Amino acid sequence: MKDVVYPNHLGIIMDGNGRWAKERGLNRSAGHKAGADNLINLLDYIYNNTSIKVVSLYAFSTENFKREKNEVDYLMKLFVTLFNSKLESIKKNNVKVVFSGRRENLPNSVIKAMDKTTNDTKDNTKGILNICLNYGGDYEIVDMTKKIARQVLDGSLNIEDITKEVVSRNLYQDLPPLDYVIRTSGEKRISNFMIYQSSYAEYDFPDTYFPDFDSKCLEESLDNYRKRDRRFGNA
Ligand code: FPP
Repeated sequence: MKDVVYPNHLGIIMDGNGRWAKERGLNRSAGHKAGADNLINLLDYIYNNTSIKVVSLYAFSTENFKREKNEVDYLMKLFVTLFNSKLESIKKNNVKVVFSGRRENLPNSVIKAMDKTTNDTKDNTKGILNICLNYGGDYEIVDMTKKIARQVLDGSLNIEDITKEVVSRNLYQDLPPLDYVIRTSGEKRISNFMIYQSSYAEYDFPDTYFPDFDSKCLEESLDNYRKRDRRFGNA
């Protein structure tokens, strides 16, 4: 492992699959397939060659359900294949896989594959892979608020005892804050990705489409992270 600074928690907004496919005269699904293949290689690189401990991926937003049915259906099938077989190397790498998002509207096949992956990897200790699926940062805050309100109403939590730690424990996953978020494809938006956890994150918006964003591109982006002066509100 290289003796250099890496973020502890890296977020990746995997954007540009559709444009990658269009430029090659392919359909959007082919772009997602190429993105998924790239993702597997990238994750292998991250967990074997860097000291990044937590990776959060934006796989499917709540808004993505508004896409054409055939694209949504393709993505759901792709998720099942990925969780059931392609993530094997992640499991072997001792990485714990967790999911963030609402389960409603997801097909049973996806829920089943998610639950099996969670269960198969729950005792893994080397790193964490957080997959945001049917996810919206605004809904996460709504759902966290409801969970906390219920605890106050049933008497198990006093209002005065609500702290940042309590909020974090009641999000979809209790993860460390995001240090660095990369959104590929040149779009400069956050699009509702982990808005609470990214309060002090640094951002990078490389132009490369996600299917082409390989380990070399990642290291180039991480060089930008190393140049940032993170002051967390200090002078
Ligand atoms: C955004 O590109 C990408 C998605 C909505 C899907 C991302 C999914 C994968 C890469 C598959 C593997 C993922 C996991 C975690 C199992 P886009 O379609 O918006 O591209 P465009 O902006 O060029 O149209």
